[in-house]
Amino acid sequence: MLEFRNVVKATGAAAVIALWSVMPVFAQDQITIKFSHVVAPDTPKGKGADKFKELAEQYTDGRVKVEVYPNSQLYKDKEELEALQMGAVQMLAPSLAKFGPLGVPEFELFDLPMLFKDRADLVKITEGEVGKSLMAKLDDKGIKGLAYWDNGFKIMTANSPVVSPDDFLGLKMRIQSSKILEAQFQALGAVPQVMAFSEVYQALQTGVVDGTENTPSNTYTQRVNEVQKYANVSNHGYIGYAVIVNKPFWDGLPEDVRTNLDKAMAEASVYANEIAAEENAKALQAMRDAGTTEIHDMTDDERAEWFEVLRPVHEEMSSRIGADLIQQTYTALGIE
Ligand code: LMR
Repeated sequence: MLEFRNVVKATGAAAVIALWSVMPVFAQDQITIKFSHVVAPDTPKGKGADKFKELAEQYTDGRVKVEVYPNSQLYKDKEELEALQMGAVQMLAPSLAKFGPLGVPEFELFDLPMLFKDRADLVKITEGEVGKSLMAKLDDKGIKGLAYWDNGFKIMTANSPVVSPDDFLGLKMRIQSSKILEAQFQALGAVPQVMAFSEVYQALQTGVVDGTENTPSNTYTQRVNEVQKYANVSNHGYIGYAVIVNKPFWDGLPEDVRTNLDKAMAEASVYANEIAAEENAKALQAMRDAGTTEIHDMTDDERAEWFEVLRPVHEEMSSRIGADLIQQTYTALGIE
């Protein structure tokens, strides 16, 4: 039989972590779930994670302990995905823009600019066939998708006004690691730059990039408004999350534990999705009150102008996401 210390020697620490994550959980073992994320605790995702911890520990009578690590404390964007696959953490909720490195770029569907009119549109996708088929694609990557969590619609920020599409010409804009977002900013004549979320504030403060896009809650909790003179409430795109777990770990849980965790996740998801719009409205108001940023609210005429410039990105990126998936989405949303 292969001895544990020889396995360590032969395969190195990384493989041992992976092995550890698939070891069976015995009847009364304490189970720890490390839930790592990159945003502040005081955001829709941060609050959702804390709610899951509370309910999971309650429903399992303390048998499961959930350790939540916010603010990229443990891992930054890319590293957290690797850590999940190795079993160094068990649960994450990356934004849907960050699934390319996992080999499922189809999630970038959610990044298509000017796709969703409102949250009702979005729910048709997350709760419909498209949402289900995307989650199923994770299975053979050693990952299980548990739920979609909402954040909200994005605003644009920069140190010069960003009202008309022409205003973006030559601006260096931070993006998440999504090819759709890259194409979106190229369509605006800007220069997109992929960067981890934890590095955004400093990059804006030091002028490494000129601007960015994010939800009001992320913008405000990262103090981005303190280093951006202008914002446009453009709602041109969406940020949401898939809550994912290491599949061997999840499948190896005793059935009663998993049932209780499923219940905790279902309730935490309702909670997270209920508070998201309100959290973003509060953050936007706090930005207005802070007065560090001149905030423009996009008009209908301006939206029509942005639409002209950004909608061709759908066609341009259809090979990455899949023309069929886009068509299925259009059909679900009633887009001709
Ligand atoms: C970002 O990187 O801008 C966001 O995806 C962060 C997050 O998780 O909301």
